[in-house]
Amino acid sequence: MKTFVYSSHGFDQPFLHKAGKLNSHELTFAECRLTKETIHLSAGNIALALFSSDDASAENLRALHHQGVRYLTLRSVGYDHVDLKVAQELGIKVANVPEYSPYAIAEHGVAMLLALNRKLYQSQLLLQLQDYRLDTLVGFDLHGKTIGVIGTGKIGFAFARIMHGFGCQLLAFDPIPNPEASSLKMPYVSLDDLLEKSDVVSLNCPLNEHTKYLLDKKEFARMKKGAILVNTARGGVIRTTALLDSIKNGHLGGACLDVYEKEKGLFFFDYRDKIVEDEVFRQLLSFPNILITGHQAFLTNEALQGITDTTMENLTAYEKHGFSSNDLW
Ligand code: NAI
Repeated sequence: MKTFVYSSHGFDQPFLHKAGKLNSHELTFAECRLTKETIHLSAGNIALALFSSDDASAENLRALHHQGVRYLTLRSVGYDHVDLKVAQELGIKVANVPEYSPYAIAEHGVAMLLALNRKLYQSQLLLQLQDYRLDTLVGFDLHGKTIGVIGTGKIGFAFARIMHGFGCQLLAFDPIPNPEASSLKMPYVSLDDLLEKSDVVSLNCPLNEHTKYLLDKKEFARMKKGAILVNTARGGVIRTTALLDSIKNGHLGGACLDVYEKEKGLFFFDYRDKIVEDEVFRQLLSFPNILITGHQAFLTNEALQGITDTTMENLTAYEKHGFSSNDLW
């Protein structure tokens, strides 16, 4: 099936290109995001393969429908970048990749937590300057600490399992408890309780109207002094300016951020000869106790293969039957 692939980059294009040929789908690749300005590029395609950076808002969906698009297959778990209600009104089917490798994201969250806590980045910089002193590099044992997991689905549970292996105590908050939580001795508590008692808080819930700014000024104030936040979910789950204030005033101990609420159009692109005018982002970058990665938690071979396989399954199913088992409506 003729499919236009927006936001395709060097890291995923080889996987998709090979699989497209094998599955007889005619894929056209573009590095640019789907935006109002780039809609016309996909004219003549019934299907689009979108990524989390694409903008499938109501207005863009209407223009795409007008252009003949009838199917969106998302190369992501999250679907906060698609106005599903309008897609349904227009009859544009939307499928996602419900699971690829939850381990990729969970392991990245743990890697960030270890790197920040044990100051690996600063240590590397000092070594390169031949400064072998340790005075600024003191961290803390994770063993015995309390880890609060917000969202205990596939990724949150994989994260919790790793932290359990480290000898941590676990607390969870999720409106739908995971039946396997008792195997990790992970009790469900209120959000307030979790925030008050946790040394590390990990965000692993989707971004939607209930979780937008789930952590704001009040919630950061409730967290333990010196606590660390790990966000590999979506940037909009926290109010970034409130996080910055809490870190500036010395309340929060640090943050590991793989996602940022205004990351669209920034992450995945080369800004080396450009000026990033987002002052909030520049401030985030300036703190030694904030570690940022550019939405790369999913970036393992296994995850990229998983995303590709499900994307192909979705396209083939839609071409044959007009729907797939991963349809979101
Ligand atoms: P999942 O659907 O397996 O789990 C999400 C969990 O969050 C569910 O248990 C759900 O009940 C819970 N939840 C929903 N509303 C909540 C709320 N208000 N408070 C607390 N928990 C709530 O999804 P999965 O696979 O674990 O992915 C979670 C999120 O991780 C995705 O929605 C996506 O935004 C993000 N993600 C980030 C990636 C990255 O590269 N940084 C890659 C893949 C996903």
